[in-house]
Amino acid sequence: MKILVIHGPNLNLLGKRETDIYGTLTLAQIDDKIKALASELGLKVAAAQSNSESEIIGLIQNSDYDLLIINPAAFTHTSISIRDAISAVGKPAIEVHLSNIHRREEFRRKSITAEVSLGQISGFGAESYLLALRAAKTYLSGN
Ligand code: DQA
Repeated sequence: MKILVIHGPNLNLLGKRETDIYGTLTLAQIDDKIKALASELGLKVAAAQSNSESEIIGLIQNSDYDLLIINPAAFTHTSISIRDAISAVGKPAIEVHLSNIHRREEFRRKSITAEVSLGQISGFGAESYLLALRAAKTYLSGN
């Protein structure tokens, strides 16, 4: 079972960026945690980060995976084209956020991509990705 993890714009700056909101772990450290848990769960995982909406759509359309875990970052709130790519490909998707988007600014409370996702995990820092991976395993195992 193959999982594709996509990190959206500005998440390459994790560890330096607004650490009070997003924590002090770098993206590389988060990816290491994701890979360690994936191997424990017997899942294959590939992770990619992009600041470009077009590249993210390309990854969603062209990669080989059974389930998508995506933190669309700011595109969560703006991108109909990422939403449509998830819907068009028809693979199950789990939306992840480090921060709890529902207790932040009004504009972050609306997710366009959640409408085409199995569910959303928001507010647990890097742990949000690990919870998503566990949910992915359960879902793909048919439980
Ligand atoms: C984020 C929340 C978004 O609102 C924001 O634009 C991000 C990160 C999160 O992981 O908490 O860049 O997706």
